[in-house]
Amino acid sequence: MTIYARITGTGSYLPEKVLTNKDLEAMVDTTDQWIRERTGIVKRHIAVDGQTTCDLAEQAARRAIEAAGKTPDDIDLIVLATTTPDKIFPSTACLVQQRLDIHGCAAFDIQAVCTGFIYALSVAEKFIRTGAARCALVIGAETFSRVIDWTDRGTCVLFGDGAGAVVVEASAEQGILSTHLHADGAYENLLHVPGGVSRGFDIPDADGDPHFTHMKGNEVFKMAVNTLGRIVDETLHANGLKKSDVDWLVPHQANIRIINATARKLSMSMEKVVVTVGQHGNTSAASVPLALDTAVRDGRIQRGEVLLLEAFGGGFTWGSVLLKF
Ligand code: UT7
Repeated sequence: MTIYARITGTGSYLPEKVLTNKDLEAMVDTTDQWIRERTGIVKRHIAVDGQTTCDLAEQAARRAIEAAGKTPDDIDLIVLATTTPDKIFPSTACLVQQRLDIHGCAAFDIQAVCTGFIYALSVAEKFIRTGAARCALVIGAETFSRVIDWTDRGTCVLFGDGAGAVVVEASAEQGILSTHLHADGAYENLLHVPGGVSRGFDIPDADGDPHFTHMKGNEVFKMAVNTLGRIVDETLHANGLKKSDVDWLVPHQANIRIINATARKLSMSMEKVVVTVGQHGNTSAASVPLALDTAVRDGRIQRGEVLLLEAFGGGFTWGSVLLKF
């Protein structure tokens, strides 16, 4: 009998503190109108001092476990995607494991920036399909505000903090149908934080402060649109599906114009696309599970529907998951 990996619960969490476009007008040379028109973002949530990625991840995880009708004792694998871990080590997955009072199961982080959740879900699916795990907790969580230069208008208006999580269980019913992961490190310098543990933060040739995100926005934008168009084709082709077979597009929430372009590629009406970017900006690895949880909880996404999840981010990394919910 084929074992499928099926999402049985979703959860998410946004920190209380909100930063509006108006607030940003007082910080950098920008306008609410520019941000709305060029990105679709209205506000973002920011972790307060002392509030960490693990804090956000824990809340999202508890909600997902409850929605699945499980308890932390049932979890036998934790995969957490983040670019902004609490500590260099242990992994944030281990920190969340400790918070949930789970002991002994495998727990590890995945770093694929904005594609992190797609990578993490794909890895958990392999554990479940091979029988190595039966009930996995998959989390995307970020305090991306910590790697943002709040004087750089080219990046600071785009990003925010948050967390999303799912419980994935072994099931005889269809769940995840296919996963598609890609990366090309040749694009390292178009979107990166130049400093790091091994390289250090004293980098003479860094194009600005090595602690913060540097992005050639326009080039990233074009690559994202083209690459996401290709991953849609690849995913449909691998499953022998037509565009009209997809009930919902749950895209990475980076920019409404990128989302619109992917929806056009799928000939999909925007009513069938989950868009939350306006409410929290780009939360990197948290954005796909945040959008998924929003549309599950408000009743738009129903059991049995076909969902296409996709993301693109630093690396570059990109990927998709096609699933029957
Ligand atoms: O998660 C994956 C990673 N990230 C992304 O997917 C983001 C991809 N990139 C983008 O979303 C867009 O490129 C941006 C939103 C970052 C920028 O939009 P754009 O339409 O590509 O604008 P641009 O960079 O070509 O800049 C247009 C103008 C420039 O002024 P000039 O040179 O035409 O006078 C910028 O200096 O807009 C200016 N600009 C701003 N103006 C007001 C750039 N940022 C701002 C700002 N407020 N915040």
